[in-house]
Order: sequence, then structure tokens, then C-alpha cells
Amino acid sequence: MIIAIDGPSGAGKSTVAKLLSKRLNFEYIDTGAMYRALAYKAYKSNIEINEANEYKIDEMLKSTSVDYYNNNIYLDNNDVESLIRDENISIGASQISALKNVRIKMVELQRKIAENKNVVLDGRDIGTKVFPNADYKFFITASEEIRATRRYNQLTASGFESEFNDVLSDLKQRDINDTTRTISPLKKAEDAILIDTTYMSLDEVVKTIADIIGGYNVL
Ligand code: DC
Repeated sequence: MIIAIDGPSGAGKSTVAKLLSKRLNFEYIDTGAMYRALAYKAYKSNIEINEANEYKIDEMLKSTSVDYYNNNIYLDNNDVESLIRDENISIGASQISALKNVRIKMVELQRKIAENKNVVLDGRDIGTKVFPNADYKFFITASEEIRATRRYNQLTASGFESEFNDVLSDLKQRDINDTTRTISPLKKAEDAILIDTTYMSLDEVVKTIADIIGGYNVL
């Protein structure tokens, strides 16, 4: 069974998807972490992420392995979970994810990892592109201010220094990048269930989703 959770940055997708996967005893795949790992490698390799450098990034891709298991992201067989969460990497991930060969490789990988498993995946194009026939599709969103506040709190709690206004403007920039790119832009799949979490607690969101799925005797 495939459960797709898409939506913009800071909507709470990954927290909800993780909790839900635990509750269902499903695997969880954080597809954003894969794009973040590639952005991290480009950054470490001194490759600026832009269209002019697409050929360099294509070369990098050929000698790069990305994997996701046990709630951790692996880049060239190293766990990079703790290295990919800062704001520079967020913006880099948004930029690198617009490139054609990057998307082809990551979508292929995500389909392969989820093959024959019960999985909750979160991302931007899971319900529209990676698994258009997913058993359940949710599109989770919230107001810009609330999303930036959640992201800011998350960064602060993880020890990253940041200014709220910078976080808000980065989030707006990522929204623009992610919704306007040519290949698989972020958008709600027609058959996805929309959940606006602006005034909802985390527990309420998980319960809402679990109730929908539970109606089908999965829980
Ligand atoms: O979910 P996240 O914030 O970790 O994702 C980082 C970036 O990766 C996001 O700005 C857009 C991109 N992304 C994507 O294009 N497709 C996905 N399925 C997941 C993330």
C-alpha cells in the first residue's frame, strides 16, 4: 500500500508522515531528503546549482548513490541526515530538484525503494508523478506565516541560528521555485484529500488521516 503526502515546505508533512508510518507499521520515505542530499553533495563539490552547471550536476549524479532506509538518508553510503537540514541546503534542494536528470533518477529510485512495500512517502510530486495510483493521497498545507513559524521553531530546536524573516522569505522563494518549475511542479493531485493544518495540532492531523485510512480497516 502506498500513502502519498504532498504539500509545500513547513506544512508538517514529514512529522505527520513519520507518526503515521509508525502507527501503521509502514516504512517511511522522506523524498525531500534525497534532493537535499544531492544539494549537499553539489555544495561540498563546489558546484553552484544553476542551469549553466546542469552538465556538471549530471556528471556528479553518475557517481553518486542515494538511499533511504530506517528513517535515514544515505549519500554515497554515509548517513547525512544531520548535515542536510539547514537553510542553504533547503534552497539548494529546491533548485537542484528542478533539473531534469535529477528528477528522473530520484523518481526511479523512489519507485524502486517503495516496491512491494507498505510505505508512507512525503514530497511534492508523490501523488502526481511518483505514484499517481497511490492508495491514498493527501495534500497538506497551511498559511505562509504558520509554515514559516513551524520551520523557524524546528530550526531553533535543532540548534540552527536563524531569523524569522529570513526563514519566511526562503520559504516564499521555495514555494515559487517548487510550484513554477517545468517538470513535476508542486500541485495537488485532483484526487488528493486537502488538509489545511493552519489551525490544527499535529495530533489532529494524524487522527484525521488515520480515520480516513482506518475506515478501510488498515489500522
Ligand atoms: O520536503 P523538503 O523541504 O525536505 O524538500 C526539499 C526540496 O526538495 C523542496 O523545496 C523541493 C524538493 N522536492 C521535490 O522537488 N520533490 C519531492 N518529492 C520532494 C522534495
